[in-house]
Amino acid sequence: MPKVEVQSVENGPNLVMVDGKTVAALCRCGHSQKKPNCDGSHRTSGFHAPAAKIEILS
Ligand code: FES
Repeated sequence: MPKVEVQSVENGPNLVMVDGKTVAALCRCGHSQKKPNCDGSHRTSGFHAPAAKIEILS
């Protein structure tokens, strides 16, 4: 089974990681013009959120 994690970057997107490789960067600031993907807009929007990590068990 692959190891799947969601890692929230401090002040940035949710990274979906499979076996240690990032397969998607999902916007969580609400300012991306390419939702659901992060386009880097969090850097200029003043978005603040803590880092977090969730391991998906299968
Ligand atoms: S988290 Fe990067 S644009 Fe929203």
